[in-house]
Amino acid sequence: METISIIEAKNHVDEKVKIGVWLTNKRSSGKIAFLQLRDGSAYFQGVVVKNSVSEEVFKLAKELKQESSMYVTGVIHEDSRSHFGYEIEIEDIELVGQSDEYPITPKEHGTDFLMDHRHLWLRSKRQFAIMQIRNEMIRATYEFFNKEGFIKIDAPILTGSAPEGTTELFHTEYFDRDAYLSQSGQLYEEAAAMAYGKVFSFGPTFRAEKSKTRRHLIEFWMIEPEMAFMHQEESLEIQERYVAFLVQSVIDNCEYALNILERDIDVLKQYTQTPYPRISYDEAIEMLQKSGKFPDVKWGDDFGSPEETFLAEQFNKPVFVLNYPKAIKPFYMKPHPTRDDVVVCADMLAPEGYGEIIGGSERAVDPEYLAEKIKEAGLDMENYEWYLDLRRYGSVPHSGFGLGLERAVTWITGEDHIREAIPFPRLLNRIYP
Ligand code: 4AD
Ligand code: MG
Repeated sequence: METISIIEAKNHVDEKVKIGVWLTNKRSSGKIAFLQLRDGSAYFQGVVVKNSVSEEVFKLAKELKQESSMYVTGVIHEDSRSHFGYEIEIEDIELVGQSDEYPITPKEHGTDFLMDHRHLWLRSKRQFAIMQIRNEMIRATYEFFNKEGFIKIDAPILTGSAPEGTTELFHTEYFDRDAYLSQSGQLYEEAAAMAYGKVFSFGPTFRAEKSKTRRHLIEFWMIEPEMAFMHQEESLEIQERYVAFLVQSVIDNCEYALNILERDIDVLKQYTQTPYPRISYDEAIEMLQKSGKFPDVKWGDDFGSPEETFLAEQFNKPVFVLNYPKAIKPFYMKPHPTRDDVVVCADMLAPEGYGEIIGGSERAVDPEYLAEKIKEAGLDMENYEWYLDLRRYGSVPHSGFGLGLERAVTWITGEDHIREAIPFPRLLNRIYP
């Protein structure tokens, strides 16, 4: 008899198998017990019929507590009534670990309670489905960038630089010096692009953002590609191909998880069609003003989430907003060739109210311009000499972008809040568990 995982049940119909499982829920009468089981690969039902098992097994089945762990032995049958399509007719149960009274019951719980029990909450079905999709997006990311000829270059986490401004830095001590937790690997990826052409990093990044929104984490994972000999327009093409590939991979490989989440696959399919629309920041401001919904909005403003949601609602795919005002973007962005007030950049806004999922730009190449902007941003020049070297020794046009993994997961899974998109979210007032 083979020991299998639940997800393999389809290959063992009418066979007797053994599976290590936890009990998620239970229903029983005098003659039959229905055990809802999970093993991390899927969820399915075990049926224990009193007349077909020993007295001890039926007694045990009726006494099992939620989250008890056990080996079940039995025969796999098709079960057309469930999402999953298979169940096990149990012949024997071998208890491994009895469970105390489990705090998370099938009834509704408040968010704070669930967040305090995140270490257990991860076992539930929706969280399982989200983590499956997150995993698929990570897998697809490596596939995409490998296929496109990129190599992964890891950026440091402890750094002296602050690419995205000084207000959201996590400060730490580095022996007798100051250091920060990385906000972005970008500057290091620029160095790597000058060495290896097309590179990307994928690592944790940190922002001490005081904002408590559905879109902000304190610690999040970012994918940051950087390409030498590349202007912005070609970078946008990579971005849309990448995002369409992520969505297509989830559609192809996560049907079970999408079903659990009740995510409409036809909606997702629209996002696999490239190109994505492009509008300029100027046009975006005009659209906001014309809508009558944003009476105070004026050229030069940064967009908050209501503005981003409105703009994205005008399209049925992600949309690029190009060329934001210089004053609201970081120092490293390339100034526009014919306009003094904007930079060559783009944010990708996701549909359905999820806001910015990508920020990117062509990079400034003039070392004097950069030195001035670095000073203007209040940064210490000493920490950026190496960065200016990249412009001194064979500088080339180059572009890059950053995709926030959890923003993209929240969007593709259709969740309301970004805290669901990462196993252990770090939020403004939360570092437990
Ligand atoms: O727009 P951002 O700040 O851009 C950068 O960091 C660039 N250095 C990227 C690059 O060009 N290499 O951040 C990029 C993306 C955002 O579009 C968003 O998806 C995500 O990172 N992001 C966050 N996700 C969760 N919580 C936060 N607090 C985030 N801040 C940014
Ligand atoms: Mg941004």
